[in-house]
Amino acid sequence: MPRYLIPRVLIVLPDNLMERSTPVMSPPSPEPTMAPAAAQRLVSPWGLSVAPMMAWTDRHCRHFHRLITRHTRLYTEMVTTGALVHGDVEKHLRHDAATEQPTALQIGGSEPDEMAHAARLAVQWGYDEINLNCGCPSERVQRGAFGACLMNEAPLVADGVKAMLDAVGSTIPVTVKHRIGIDRVERYEFVRDFVGTVADAGCRVFIVHARNAWLQGLSPKENREIPPLRYEIVHRLKREFPGLVICINGGITTNEQVAEQLAAVDGVMVGRAAYHDPVLMAEWDARFWGQGTAVVPDDEWRLDIERQMVDYIESEHRRFGTPWAHAATHMLGLWNTRPGARAWRRVWSDHRLKAHPVREVAALALQARLSARKEEPLASAVE
Ligand SMILES: Cc1cc2nc3c(=O)[nH]c(=O)nc-3n(C[C@H](O)[C@H](O)[C@H](O)COP(=O)(O)O)c2cc1C
Repeated sequence: MPRYLIPRVLIVLPDNLMERSTPVMSPPSPEPTMAPAAAQRLVSPWGLSVAPMMAWTDRHCRHFHRLITRHTRLYTEMVTTGALVHGDVEKHLRHDAATEQPTALQIGGSEPDEMAHAARLAVQWGYDEINLNCGCPSERVQRGAFGACLMNEAPLVADGVKAMLDAVGSTIPVTVKHRIGIDRVERYEFVRDFVGTVADAGCRVFIVHARNAWLQGLSPKENREIPPLRYEIVHRLKREFPGLVICINGGITTNEQVAEQLAAVDGVMVGRAAYHDPVLMAEWDARFWGQGTAVVPDDEWRLDIERQMVDYIESEHRRFGTPWAHAATHMLGLWNTRPGARAWRRVWSDHRLKAHPVREVAALALQARLSARKEEPLASAVE
């Protein structure tokens, strides 16, 4: 039975990493737990997560998401193992582990030794999981022979998983994110054999983007839109590997879809919808994690989140000289659907204000939102 030491909470998990009788969420909520009757209590730490997204889910973005959902698992952007071996480790890995956890470090690479090195760093820097990217189709990543093309190299992925497990023991789980197939190979057996081989090496958690990756002729963006979604393949994986944690990803945009998917798989990973419409996450703690009271994401709630972000941005600027725009860019969806949202966003995206203190920018954004409220019809708030 593996023991995973997640900071401050020792969780003993059975072999398949599922704990059916004890809710496995960390850390315990400081306020009394009042799960609403409708809450769908998640039993896996992978029950709900925000996807790794390059240039989006940096530590500022994760801080913002953490203000909205305390319990959801967050993923870093992909960091290449090469960058961790030769580059500025602190730049890539620095984060506030205590306030941000649970957070997974996603890596991209194909050398087992480098993966093992990255996994050791993940432990040292306080991450709660190391995740290997086997789903990215970009040409740059293909030139490095990692990402989605690793799905054609299941034995190599298995070696990488073994190397990482040897490096971290049972301190953090080693997981894999992948697609359902490569190019036009649509046979279920392809992904089944990939998962089987990697599971034999000791990986217990698979996050499956329910699309093929077409390695020729499509940009990464098109590769998130054009290959058709085939959720039934992921559901079948769960049925045929009941002892593994199988999470689904791709095209999930509403909490109703999250709830539906949770009936078929162990977890749901949401990417673009969470980033563009962060308010989607406001009900996750109460509804899915069964923690805290249900949030009403009204204007007061949005303002409170914005204020907390401004405090954070100010502190980041004081400590590290971070320009306010680096963090503010991730909260541009906060007022979506509310009157005045567009005017508010315009201020927070205005590079001419970059030399101004963040509080001044926040005051201008508030003013712009309130004065635009009357003219700006609700529907125009989302672009
Ligand atoms: C801007 C952007 C960057 C991404 N970067 C990564 C990445 O670094 N690693 C990864 O595994 N997937 C990456 N993805 C893919 C997402 O993790 C996810 O699999 C994909 O967006 C499908 O989920 P969604 O439909 O919920 O967005 C990225 C997606 C976007 C939009």
